[in-house]
Amino acid sequence: MTTIQSDGYPIMAGDGALKALSAFLKEHPYSSYFILCDENTLQACLPILISACPALRQADIIEVESGESAKSLDFSANIWETLLENQADKQSLLINLGGGVVSDLGGFSASVYKRGIDFIHVPTSLLAMADASVGGKTGIDFLGIKNCIGTFSSPRAVFIYPGFLMSLPERHFQNGLAEVYKIALTCDKKFWEQCIHEGSDAESLILQSVKLKNKIVLRDPFDQGIRNVLNFGHTLGHALESFYGGTEKELLHGEAVVAGMIMESHISVQKKMLSRKELSEISTYFRSAFTLPSLEEASLEALLRLAGNDKKTSRSRLRMSLIDRIGSCKHQVEVSSTQIRKSLEYYASLFQ
Ligand SMILES: NC(=O)c1ccc[n+]([C@@H]2O[C@H](COP(=O)([O-])OP(=O)(O)OC[C@H]3O[C@@H](n4cnc5c(N)ncnc54)[C@H](O)[C@@H]3O)[C@@H](O)[C@H]2O)c1
Repeated sequence: MTTIQSDGYPIMAGDGALKALSAFLKEHPYSSYFILCDENTLQACLPILISACPALRQADIIEVESGESAKSLDFSANIWETLLENQADKQSLLINLGGGVVSDLGGFSASVYKRGIDFIHVPTSLLAMADASVGGKTGIDFLGIKNCIGTFSSPRAVFIYPGFLMSLPERHFQNGLAEVYKIALTCDKKFWEQCIHEGSDAESLILQSVKLKNKIVLRDPFDQGIRNVLNFGHTLGHALESFYGGTEKELLHGEAVVAGMIMESHISVQKKMLSRKELSEISTYFRSAFTLPSLEEASLEALLRLAGNDKKTSRSRLRMSLIDRIGSCKHQVEVSSTQIRKSLEYYASLFQ
């Protein structure tokens, strides 16, 4: 098992992670345990967790519906209500057993209940193992705005047991890979090359991603500078995600981010930060590894507006995180709407 030290808490990853959790529970006396899951992790992961950690047989289980819709004030209120009804006090522990939705929602709810109780993450999706459970960001969506309400609040520990991935649906596995590739493209060329040439087992991808993300988080825990590089692919990815939201082509976040990384790499080429060869390597690989969302010429104006640009004010500028070579990223780079338009046209041309 590998232990990585983060901002005041350990991240333990590997086959022995649940044993380590059991030992942690023995060492840390809590007055009561609560386990937050969604309906899928309740069925697929909770029995494994409880059989590895007998102390959790007495835990109260809080179940939320699966999916982004659970990251809401209503579900937070349900959690607070259950905690109160079951006399959770300052010495209680909340265990977040699930994907990024459960860790964001549970982390947020615990961080403000009675001004903060301890919580730990036991991530079960690739995205949560490789990304969301690390870095101390918690949050819920509000009035349609993603992660609008939240806190910076660290778990007491993170236990990553890759065995949970056995039951994760393939589409969600791919979704997590997108964020792994983003970390490789922004932080480590060798890791990128390893991903595209050798492939890698999930555990090794998770470990490398966590180590790289953790390094950035330790330098900028409150997201005021360098941590912005982790937004690479997200500005245009979010625009695409919103564009297809609520339609039959609705995208998972990672699927939109892969498309966003191709488009934003094209902007890097326009700004002479990245070579055409590197762009071609990135887009060829992503096209072979993912089913990318298509884009038609007729949708470009709507996407431009979603990316925060008014088509009438072509001189308006936006700031983005852009790679300046594979494995390195600059943040706060000014980008014009003309450059964004060209990147969308390039992306749309891939489907002609
Ligand atoms: N806090 C952060 O730093 C951070 C970083 C990245 C993403 N996020 C957040 O993470 C969320 C997305 O996370 P996600 O992709 O894990 O989504 P998710 O939590 O909705 O999980 C995806 C799906 O997989 C199911 N699932 C999870 N683990 C499973 C398992 N082992 N077996 C069977 N089914 C399983 C879930 O029930 C769900 O249906 C978003 O809300 C995003 O904002 C947060």
